[in-house]
Parts: sequence; structure tokens; C-alpha cells
Amino acid sequence: MLALARTKLPSARLVRGDIVAGWPSELPDRFDCIVSAYVFHHFDLSTKVDLVARLLRDHGASGCRIVVGDVCVPTKVALDDVRRTWGKQMDQEEHYWIADEAIAACERNGIQARYEQTSPFAGVFVFETGRLTV
Ligand SMILES: C[S@@+](CC[C@H](N)C(=O)[O-])C[C@H]1O[C@@H](n2cnc3c(N)ncnc32)[C@H](O)[C@@H]1O
Repeated sequence: MLALARTKLPSARLVRGDIVAGWPSELPDRFDCIVSAYVFHHFDLSTKVDLVARLLRDHGASGCRIVVGDVCVPTKVALDDVRRTWGKQMDQEEHYWIADEAIAACERNGIQARYEQTSPFAGVFVFETGRLTV
């Protein structure tokens, strides 16, 4: 992915790191906006919420937004439908977002979340600091 990104964005600063394990030391500590595309579905819901909370708390400048585009369906019922249709072709180890459950989990942890479904199987979240409790 980094090699491909380098060909498309030769002047961008690219670093490699495990975002769940910690913040890459090569990066500045805080950002006004953090954007992620098709990464969070590797993590279960609890890890997703902990990571969003940590990024907002420890690496967001005042008013920071985290924008996450990923594989996502609006409800568990919608995911069950997708699994019935595409079951065998779907990766069983990935944790696709279920928007209503994720928003509720974020709100329980003081994170404000907005969500827009952009296609039947993908959407975009915007997370902001509410009253962070984690
Ligand atoms: C489906 S690819 C998406 C790549 C790219 N963002 C895009 O939209 O084309 C998933 C990416 O998530 C990255 N990834 C998975 N777990 C990660 C982690 N713990 N920390 C950082 N990146 C991770 C993988 O290395 C891979 O590049």
C-alpha cells in the first residue's frame, strides 16, 4: 500500500505503523483532522471505539474531526441480509461497521458521531470530541 501511495503522492510524507499499538513517533503529535479509508474494519467494535477516543483525546487539536470511510451497513438486519446474499465471498475475519451500534457505542463513551451511508455497503463517519469518558 505504501509503495502504491508513493507512486500516486510522491511528495507526501508516508510512515508505516500499527495504529492500534500506538502513534508513529515520526508524526506530529496532534492534527486538525484525521482521515481513514478502509482500515477500521480490521478491528472489532470495542477496538474501533477505543481507537477513535484515543485519537481524539491524544492526537486531535482543538475541534479535531476524525473522518472514517469504510465498509458499513446501517443496521444488524442489513448486515444479515448482506451475509445471506454474499456469505461465502465475504471475509469472515473482518468486522464490518454496523452504523447504529457504532454510533450508540461512541455516544456511551462521550464521542459525537455522524454517519452517512454512501452506497449499500459503505459509509462515512465523522467523529468529534463530545464528553470523552475513555
Ligand atoms: C483495505 S486496505 C485500505 C488501504 C487504503 N487506505 C485504501 O483505502 O485503499 C487496509 C489497510 O489497513 C491497514 N491496516 C490494517 N490494520 C492496521 C493497523 N493496526 N494499523 C495501521 N494500518 C492497518 C493495512 O495495512 C492496509 O493498508
